[in-house]
Amino acid sequence: MSRPAAAAAAALLVILAAAGGAAAKTTIEPCSSADSCAALLGYSLYADMKVSEVAALFGADPAALLAANALDFASPGAANRILPAGLLLRVPTRCACADGVRKSVSVRYAARPADTLATVADVVFAGLASADQIRSANGLAEADPDALLDAGQILVVPFPCVCLNSTDNNLPAVYLSYVVRVGDTVQSIAASHATTVTDLSNVNAMGSPVVAPGDILAVPLSACASTFPNFASDYGLLVANGTYALTAGNCVECSCGPGDLNLYCTPASLGTSCSSMQCSSSSLMLGNVTTQPTSGGCGVSSCSYAGFVNGSITTSLSSGLQPTCPGPHQVPPLMEPSTAAIHDSYLAPSPSPGPGEAGGDVPGSSDPGASSHSLAGSLSPSVHQLHQMILILSLVFYLHM
Ligand SMILES: *[C@@H]1O[C@H](CO)[C@@H](O)[C@H](O)[C@H]1NC(C)=O
Ligand SMILES: *[C@@H]1O[C@H](CO)[C@@H](O)[C@H](O)[C@H]1NC(C)=O
Ligand SMILES: *[C@@H]1O[C@H](CO)[C@@H](O)[C@H](O)[C@H]1NC(C)=O
Ligand SMILES: *[C@@H]1O[C@H](CO)[C@@H](O)[C@H](O)[C@H]1NC(C)=O
Repeated sequence: MSRPAAAAAAALLVILAAAGGAAAKTTIEPCSSADSCAALLGYSLYADMKVSEVAALFGADPAALLAANALDFASPGAANRILPAGLLLRVPTRCACADGVRKSVSVRYAARPADTLATVADVVFAGLASADQIRSANGLAEADPDALLDAGQILVVPFPCVCLNSTDNNLPAVYLSYVVRVGDTVQSIAASHATTVTDLSNVNAMGSPVVAPGDILAVPLSACASTFPNFASDYGLLVANGTYALTAGNCVECSCGPGDLNLYCTPASLGTSCSSMQCSSSSLMLGNVTTQPTSGGCGVSSCSYAGFVNGSITTSLSSGLQPTCPGPHQVPPLMEPSTAAIHDSYLAPSPSPGPGEAGGDVPGSSDPGASSHSLAGSLSPSVHQLHQMILILSLVFYLHM
C-alpha cells in the first residue's frame, strides 16, 4: 500500500537530484590500515518493509539487525515482521579502508525495473549514498542520474562510515552515520542520541553547528568495547549502549548497559546448534556470576565470553575479591518489532532530561525528541498515510530550499 507514495517520493527526488547541484556534507575519515572496524548506518525505511527485506538490502542478518535496535530478535517470526515506512533503524556495518578513506563497501544491490542511480541513492538507500558516489564506485561513465538502469545490474553501494579509533573523548564509542532529515537541527540530533552539540561539532569538524537535509553526520554513541584477541573473528566487537549484538554464529548474544558499559555476553536463545558455553573446569556458563560474601569482601567468580576463534566459542573464568557483592546483572530491555515507533526508544528517554544528561548545549529544549519521528507511533492506516504525506511534503519543502 505504500508503493504509490514511495513512487511519488521517488519522482520528487529525481527532480531534486536534477535541479540540485550542491553536494551534501559528509564526514570523511582518512585511513591507511587494512583493518576494518565496526560502525552503524542510520537507515530510514522508504516503504513498509519486512525485517528480512531491510536486512537483505544491507547484506545483514535479520536477527543481528533486530539486536542492534534492541528489538526482540529471538521471538518466532521476528524476521517477517513488517516495519513502517519512515522508521529509523541502525544497521551494523564494517568500515573498510578503500581509496584511503573509511567507508562501507560490502553492499551489492541488484537494480530493479524503473530504478535509476538517483532513486537507488535517494530512495532505496535513503540518502546514505549519492548517485555520484554509486556511479564512481562502479566505474560507470558520467551519465544522467535519472537514466534507467538495466534491471538486474549489480551495483556496489558505498556508504560513509567512520570509526575514529572507536573512541570519543577517550571512551568507547561506535559511530552512527546519520542522514540529516528535514526539521533536524544539530541540537535535536545531539539530544536524541545522548550526545552534545559540542561533541557533534568536534567530531564532524563543523565550523558552526548548522546542518542541511541530506548532510551525513557521524554521531558518536557510547558503547561497550570487547577485548577479544585479534585472531578472534569477532575482534573489535562494539555494542552501543542499550542494544545487543549477536556473535559466534548467532550462538552468543552480547549486550551493553544500562547500568555500566561492560560488555555482557550470554548464550543466545535463537535455538541454533552451538558448542559448549561452559567455562572449563567450572560449572559456570557464559554470563554466570557467583558471589561469596567473606569477611574481607565479596568473592566473585564469573565466566565470560572471550571471542570466536577458529569456529569455537572461547571463554574466560575469573575470580577475585570485590569490596561488595554485585547485584544481578541488568540487561537492556528488548522491544517487540512492531509497527510502533522504535527509533526514539533506544535511549529510553524520559520526558524531561535527567540531571546527569549531557544537555548543556540545548537551551530550553526539554522535549528534544518531539519531531515528526513519533508519527510512526500509533500506526493506524490514516496516521500512516499522514506520515507518508508529510514525508512527501518534506521533500517538496526540501526541493524549494
Ligand atoms: C586509539 O585508542 C587506543 C585505546 O583504545 C589508544 O591507546 C590510542 O592512543 C588511540 N589512538 C588515537 C589516534 O586516538
Ligand atoms: C546508557 O543508557 C542508559 C539508559 O538506557 C543511561 O541511563 C546511561 O546513562 C547510558 N550510559 C552512558 C554512558 O551513556
Ligand atoms: C548460568 O547461565 C545460564 C545460561 O545463560 C542460565 O540459564 C543459568 O540460569 C545461569 N545460572 C546461574 C546460577 O546464574
Ligand atoms: C586455527 O586453526 C589453524 C589451523 O586449523 C591453526 O593453524 C591456528 O593456529 C588456529 N588458531 C588459533 C588461534 O587457535
